[in-house]
Amino acid sequence: MVDSSSEGMTQQRWERTHQYIDQLFSDDTDRWDREHEASMEAGLPAISVGAGVGRWLSLLASLSRSGGAKLIVEVGTLGGASAIALAQGLEADGRIVTIEASDDHADFARKSIERAGESRIDVRLGEGLELLPRLVEELGVGSCDLLFLDAIKTEYPGYLEAGMPLMRSGGLVVADNVLGAGEGWIPDAIDGEPSRVAIDRFNRLVATDPRLQGTILPMRQGLLVARVL
Ligand SMILES: C[S@@+](CC[C@H](N)C(=O)[O-])C[C@H]1O[C@@H](n2cnc3c(N)ncnc32)[C@H](O)[C@@H]1O
Repeated sequence: MVDSSSEGMTQQRWERTHQYIDQLFSDDTDRWDREHEASMEAGLPAISVGAGVGRWLSLLASLSRSGGAKLIVEVGTLGGASAIALAQGLEADGRIVTIEASDDHADFARKSIERAGESRIDVRLGEGLELLPRLVEELGVGSCDLLFLDAIKTEYPGYLEAGMPLMRSGGLVVADNVLGAGEGWIPDAIDGEPSRVAIDRFNRLVATDPRLQGTILPMRQGLLVARVL
């Protein structure tokens, strides 16, 4: 049996590990802190990605196409933190379309994106399941390099179905919180908790879809990354 005090992971050790990674690789933690404070003051929920997951998003966006992503679609903008991180992996004339259902969140995000000096992020007010099929018509089948899912967990299977026509071969599907949160962790016994059931269904859909090859990075609440074959 592994002794957790020496070799295993305790909660404290995980926290310190994340801090270590953030300090080493996230070079703009001050901006993250300032934006986090501004979003708290504006009454937004504290559910955005942090600097560590943000760094992964920037990296994945830049890897999604040689020279950087041309088009990224996000579902769930909140205050714009993840969209700004993704924008760091765009090619110079690339763009991001990000969908947000809440008027207040979309307003805050537009201001925060302006503060970050980003003109390539287009915040669309609406529901992911409604707007994704319209984006397929507007932007074209196979036009998207990276699809980032981060809105309602029970709708993830629907976002995948509606978003797949957008994806070009070689592009990436990325989804946050795929291991759960709070009491709803996936590896614990699955009961009827709707978010957990839906996320488990989503993970299994990705794992068994012959069009996708992916896995889950078990950082924070789990980041799923899948390449479109
Ligand atoms: C977890 S937060 C997104 C965090 C953001 N991606 C970040 O890391 O900075 C989820 C967001 O999805 C929005 N949302 C809820 N239902 C939605 C829907 N049906 N379509 C699009 N966005 C939705 C919420 O208002 C909230 O702002």
